[in-house]
Amino acid sequence: MKLNIALLPGDGIGPDVVEQAVKSLQAVADAFGHTFHFEEALVGAVAIDKTGDPLPEETLEVCRRSHAVLFGAIGDPKYDNDPKAKVRPEQGLLKLRKSLGLFTNIRPVKAYPTLIEKSPLKKEIISGTDFTIYRELTGGIYFGEKKLSENGTVASDLCEYSEAEIERIAHLAFKAARSRRNKLTLVDKANVLETSRLWRRVVTAIGKSYPDVELDFLFVDNAAMQIILNPGQFDVILTENMFGDIISDEGSVIGGSIGLLASASVGSDNAMFEPIHGSYPQAKGKDIANPVASILSAAMLLEHFNLKEEAEAVKNAVEKSLEKGVVTPDLDKDSKFGTNKVGDFIADFILHAEDTTQVNKENIEFGQSTII
Ligand code: IPM
Ligand code: MG
Repeated sequence: MKLNIALLPGDGIGPDVVEQAVKSLQAVADAFGHTFHFEEALVGAVAIDKTGDPLPEETLEVCRRSHAVLFGAIGDPKYDNDPKAKVRPEQGLLKLRKSLGLFTNIRPVKAYPTLIEKSPLKKEIISGTDFTIYRELTGGIYFGEKKLSENGTVASDLCEYSEAEIERIAHLAFKAARSRRNKLTLVDKANVLETSRLWRRVVTAIGKSYPDVELDFLFVDNAAMQIILNPGQFDVILTENMFGDIISDEGSVIGGSIGLLASASVGSDNAMFEPIHGSYPQAKGKDIANPVASILSAAMLLEHFNLKEEAEAVKNAVEKSLEKGVVTPDLDKDSKFGTNKVGDFIADFILHAEDTTQVNKENIEFGQSTII
């Protein structure tokens, strides 16, 4: 298969981790006989610095003419600490999602058996956790009208949803539940918000066409509690933009590091793959950022194009790295492996998996084959 992939490394550790995902994709191309063509473009604070615009038109064109987008991270403290900043890096990401029509954000949350001890939560609580969040991505309070009174003392953000916006993501979530364990939980705040009541009505009606999927409802405050009390109860969670943003960060704690969570943002014509973590500017260029979320995002990209065996190869390589302790310091503070070495190990394992029985952590030689 020939794929044109737009690379948008963005800010902070974005370039560090995207580089590793590209290594994995290249390894897949070599191992399975595909051709992936990469084209890099600017987004975020780096784009503001160079062009004044967090999402230059040229970047949007590169994305539009590509089959998929691989995104790094966005955000820079120089904007976070300036409430008066007119242009913000995050606007680039939001505009990108909206312009490409990426209305569904899919965020899988999994407790890796090899990492179970790393989670701040108790092993018996998180063991076996495997759920996926379907977060609406182009509507709600993120995109509603924003107002600030002239004297700057009163502000508002409108949260608005239409039936059509709810329907299209609900179908995807029901279908996902069907291919998993047949359970869908709608997370909302229907005891308070009109938009949530609309979500309940629309999702309940659609549920009639999926009688094999068990549908239940949770208020978001309760859901936030249940996710850390009993995460094993969830299969697919469907929710609106803002709630999805919050509970997916919460979900990342289960896996032991936010550096592990990948995501896919899909629409009718485009798809973008990105880690859920932020730009972690303190770690930029220090070779300590965890590249796994970015690499797993690349695996989701492969899955999106139905390259299942290829995606499995990437996921297996990631699991092997976790199992062998070839991990960045967020997962093992004594680890001597950095972003690059972890990326090399995973790419190498994709290429040479069949040769592997054992990794000698002491004598590991990167750069040639990492497998000994
Ligand atoms: C995410 C991020 C973004 C969001 C920010 C960077 C705008 O937190 O992808 O979860 O809020 O959607
Ligand atoms: Mg977020």
